[in-house]
Amino acid sequence: MTAAPVRALANQSPLWPAQLDHIQRNSDRPEALVSFYRDAAGLVPREVGASLWLMEGAQRRILIGAGSRGEQPLNVFRVQSKPQLTALRAWLEGRGIPLLKLPTPLFSEGFAVRDPDGRLAAFGLPDPAFDAPPASDLKAGRLPGRLQHVVVATADLTRLIRFYEQELGFVASDHVYDGDKETGPVTASFLRSDPEHHSFAAFRAPEARPDHHCYETNCWNDIRDWADHLATLDIKLWWGPGRHGPGNNLFFMIEDPDGHKVEWSAELETLPRDLAPRAWKHEERTLNYWGQAWMRS
Ligand SMILES: [Fe+2]
Repeated sequence: MTAAPVRALANQSPLWPAQLDHIQRNSDRPEALVSFYRDAAGLVPREVGASLWLMEGAQRRILIGAGSRGEQPLNVFRVQSKPQLTALRAWLEGRGIPLLKLPTPLFSEGFAVRDPDGRLAAFGLPDPAFDAPPASDLKAGRLPGRLQHVVVATADLTRLIRFYEQELGFVASDHVYDGDKETGPVTASFLRSDPEHHSFAAFRAPEARPDHHCYETNCWNDIRDWADHLATLDIKLWWGPGRHGPGNNLFFMIEDPDGHKVEWSAELETLPRDLAPRAWKHEERTLNYWGQAWMRS
């Protein structure tokens, strides 16, 4: 990792601060995902539309819908106030970005944009009707895990990151370079929308696809408790435990029934808004200090 100079703010987008609120995953067998996320992640299911389920727990919620297996058509980010939302709308309109109808029932106001890979990114304010997580006697319901980041893969990383960074206003924390740092092709970029190291990231891959989403816990012991819980369900860890370079977080991943990767994390680093992006080498050690890595390209 190279030194990280402080820089003048490159982008004054009103997006900062925003947090990942929920994502939508689709499947041709959504009931299998509903059962999985209920048991594995402690999310209580509730039907909120035609073949659309809200899966909800403390500080974490996702939507599961009917559609193509593995599809993840929507990532939804929460802003802090109506003035911030108004300012973000004006910022995007000023850049000529088409604003689309809010595509989630969980927000009372907001809008969506379509990213270069065709995925919807929505921004808005939560509907108070969905504010309180339901009472839960699920075994994993008491385990801490805040939905914190979502990651995609793309065949055109430069185009995708330019859109999220320069148009929407996400701030780059780290870039991973194939070959010389800061001059070679970029293989992964981690973007933040508040001090947490990344709320969105993207990897270079042969095709555009979802990559994973992550629940942030409070400490390493929570990672242990989640792994012990998953063991009772005979769900094997797919990668990890390890420690990522970018983000410096402890982690492991599992696969859901459609092969989508789900991560639990602890100790994700925080960075000030004006910290310039840092550079990493495209190698296993960058993605996992402790050992083998999932190399997307
Ligand atoms: Fe992650």
